[in-house]
Amino acid sequence: MKLTFLPLVAACSSVLWLAPSEVLAPDGQERKREERREGGHEEHSPLEDRMHAIEDSIRALRRSLKDPAKQADSLTLLAKLEADIVAAKGETPRMAPKVPEAERPKFLVEYRLEMVSMLEHALAVEKAVLAGNAEAAQQAFEKLRGLEDPAHARFTEEEK
Ligand code: HEM
Repeated sequence: MKLTFLPLVAACSSVLWLAPSEVLAPDGQERKREERREGGHEEHSPLEDRMHAIEDSIRALRRSLKDPAKQADSLTLLAKLEADIVAAKGETPRMAPKVPEAERPKFLVEYRLEMVSMLEHALAVEKAVLAGNAEAAQQAFEKLRGLEDPAHARFTEEEK
């Protein structure tokens, strides 16, 4: 019995010996790092994170839409942008609790409608890209970008 286990024990101990220390000790340091990372993200609202993702996609689209060879990249970016807009639509702006209670329902409906409009603009860009109409895609994209400043003036405290 003992002899049959010996090679197995030897194999396991050599694997353990070769394994990097993180594999052997996944608790401790790594867990602390994760906790710090999570803690560090607390000041960002989920909506803000989505907005940064939206900003990244829009920046990349600015370049890809100019290059007909990058149609596939544009479509991938648009799919991600649309998913981020849908997620952002389900969030609540950070300033909502500071809006007087009587005006808050209207504020939230207007926020959601603005997000619906943003999604429609992104879909318009996608339709133009799919039709192979670079000029229409560019025009729809400029309209999409034009939503940012007025929306921030209305729905964020920073621009007020
Ligand atoms: C091209 C379109 C847009 C871009 C690139 C964009 C980008 C951003 C960025 C980068 C932030 C974070 C600002 C910071 O860290 O200080 C932000 C915040 C925010 N944006 Fe946008 N945005 C766009 C359109 C919109 C639209 C259409 C709405 C409203 C429907 C909106 C509502 C907000 C709100 C409410 C915040 C503050 C986050 C919070 O309240 O938690 N944004 N946006």
